[in-house]
Amino acid sequence: MKKKIIVTGGTGYIGSHTAVELIEEGFDIILIDNLYNSEAVVAERIGKITGTKPPLEVFDICDKLKLNRFFKKNKDIAAIMHFAAYKAVGESVNKPIEYYRNNLVSLINLLEAMNQYNIPSMVFSSSCTVYGQPEKLPVKEDSPVQPAISPYGNTKQIGEEIIRDATSVIQNIKAISLRYFNPIGAHPSAIIGELPRGVPENLVPYITQTGYGIRDELKVFGNDYNTPDGTCIRDFLHVVDLAKAHVIAARRLVENKNRKNYEVFNLGTGKGVSVLEAIQSFERVSGIKIKYTIKGRRPGDIEKIWADPSYANRELGWKTMSSLDEAMKTAWEWEKYIRKKNLSE
Ligand code: UD1
Repeated sequence: MKKKIIVTGGTGYIGSHTAVELIEEGFDIILIDNLYNSEAVVAERIGKITGTKPPLEVFDICDKLKLNRFFKKNKDIAAIMHFAAYKAVGESVNKPIEYYRNNLVSLINLLEAMNQYNIPSMVFSSSCTVYGQPEKLPVKEDSPVQPAISPYGNTKQIGEEIIRDATSVIQNIKAISLRYFNPIGAHPSAIIGELPRGVPENLVPYITQTGYGIRDELKVFGNDYNTPDGTCIRDFLHVVDLAKAHVIAARRLVENKNRKNYEVFNLGTGKGVSVLEAIQSFERVSGIKIKYTIKGRRPGDIEKIWADPSYANRELGWKTMSSLDEAMKTAWEWEKYIRKKNLSE
């Protein structure tokens, strides 16, 4: 029998890409999303890509009554992949309570439901933000977690702690936290991708929107960092590679291959790329020059971080397959698709 998996935030950026991979790997999935930051049409596009349109339940998992109703109706769930969360670092500084409520209440509700409805496994979306600015690079999983700079980052740290503590005493639930570095790009079909609300906060959507002419110019936040070209360094990984890691993590839990009740993995390429190098990559794959100006540093930015993904490579048998240029190309194809789509609607 096909294993049933719940994908919260299933019409969002990483959730939708993971949904595609889960379906293609033979899982039976149900998406839950409140459509706060995504659109229902994404479920149809997942169906277009895979040939199987997953059911989408539109409600907020912070709503315990609705969540209970859902789990009473949907039995025999093998795992929850929990993506649903607010994720804008800047916004979280101004709306801390909203961020704590949304990101933590949803998680607690799900953990309680796992215990109550016998759902054995969870895969949690965490972030390299938990490391702050690590002293040693590349960063390994045992690198110390540092005080979070933003409420958003804190929700990921606290979220991990809640899961760690819950799985240490509740023997029938287990979990894996995946610490993402910087996911970019889109599905090669270019019909699902990242769709930021309003002005993008993240680098790659800003680059592609500037390339398309929606933004006049890109602001590069600081070129006086202690890095070869002075701009910040990140580990950009293709979202499809990231999605594939989720399928492996789900399978590890569902097939009881996990070593401990709670495990943490870094998901990155292992290669640091500067902001200027990211711009150059976009220019190479699109043939479009990006107008940019150097601005002051963005508060809270980390100078440089990239993953040591060797634990995930070894234990999960996973590594990234796509190059920066390949990922950037898909980001560009997606930008063009979504703009033409919006114009024709
Ligand atoms: C941040 C969070 C990360 C979160 C992610 C998702 C931190 C340290 N990191 O990643 O946890 O999961 O957002 O929202 O909190 N840049 C520009 N111009 C722009 C936009 C960005 O120069 O217009 C630069 C930034 O200064 C940074 C780099 O590009 O150096 C990457 O920024 P961004 O894409 O926002 O990701 P992070 O800040 O790394």
